[in-house]
Amino acid sequence: MLRIEHLVKKFDEDFVVLDDIDLSVNKGEVVVILGPSGCGKSTLLRCINGLEDIQDGRVLLEGEEINPGGKGAEKSRVKIGMVFQSYDLFPHMSILDNVILAPMKVQKRNKEDVVKEAREMLERVGLASREESYPRQLSGGQKQRVAIARALVLDPEILLCDEATSALDPEITKGILALLQKINKEMGITIVVVTHQMEVVKQICQRVAFLSQGKVLAVGRPEKLFVWPQEREIRDFLREESDKLPETGVNLKLFFYGEGNQRPIVTQMSQELHTDFNICWAKLEDFREDVYGSLVLNMKQEDLERACAFLDSKDVTWEVIE
Ligand SMILES: Nc1ncnc2c1ncn2[C@@H]1O[C@H](COP(=O)(O)OP(=O)(O)OP(=O)(O)O)[C@@H](O)[C@H]1O
Ligand SMILES: [Mg+2]
Repeated sequence: MLRIEHLVKKFDEDFVVLDDIDLSVNKGEVVVILGPSGCGKSTLLRCINGLEDIQDGRVLLEGEEINPGGKGAEKSRVKIGMVFQSYDLFPHMSILDNVILAPMKVQKRNKEDVVKEAREMLERVGLASREESYPRQLSGGQKQRVAIARALVLDPEILLCDEATSALDPEITKGILALLQKINKEMGITIVVVTHQMEVVKQICQRVAFLSQGKVLAVGRPEKLFVWPQEREIRDFLREESDKLPETGVNLKLFFYGEGNQRPIVTQMSQELHTDFNICWAKLEDFREDVYGSLVLNMKQEDLERACAFLDSKDVTWEVIE
């Protein structure tokens, strides 16, 4: 549905913000773009939306080019809804007026129809009773919901959400993500979410693209990326355990998934190698349906080689943590 090919964005001659980005999004998918602050996530969304000019490459929506000035630009852009992190609501207008503004001004639609649809969307996002309120009377999570309703009322095929949840507390974040999931399932809208929060990825996405310094380092199923990211940089970004680990001996991290969770690997290893380990950190991750686990063992340097050989023989993925 959406294809980004060799996209290059520079803010000036020697400041390359996005460097040869390739990414595809299928119809009906929820894709998360994850990465550290300043890596170019918002800029990428703005390029997709045609709000930024690009220096090379193309953005295609259903096969039509939507770069600013590109042939299909105007036609395609109406299919894209955008939720900005700052919500961008007009403070002097009621919630309902905020939601109906664009369909009336940009799409020149009849007010009665737009109001009816706006009310449906406000109901969908759980704010049916607040249409008379003003933005300042709403919480951050509620404003976020209005911003989502306002994007939906334009009837987009694809919804881009920039840091849709980063300013919100974990419970409200869950609610917003559940709402996005509902929109995806019930309305069939393709969703691209930008975030630096791993929780977002775990809860909603089918695929995640990891962006770093303007490059896509990896794309894949979230569990693949989190359980065993090949790239050191992604492992470092996602690392949670490092400051709690012992400084003596060796720390070895094991990854378990699928039936790996059920096997008594650690006790077996201890018995076979006739040695003891300390379990110094462990975590189970819930990825939508599946549970994935990781575990850090501390052991003596001299046991390391045999331990790794044992784990290899059992097909367990491991990593020595420096
Ligand atoms: N209009 C602009 N002019 C010049 N530089 C810009 C402009 N907008 C963004 N940048 C720079 O481009 C880089 C990427 O910015 P961007 O906002 O895309 O990052 P981000 O990944 O969204 O970060 P965050 O997670 O903090 O929102 C940053 O170094 C930023 O300073
Ligand atoms: Mg940003």
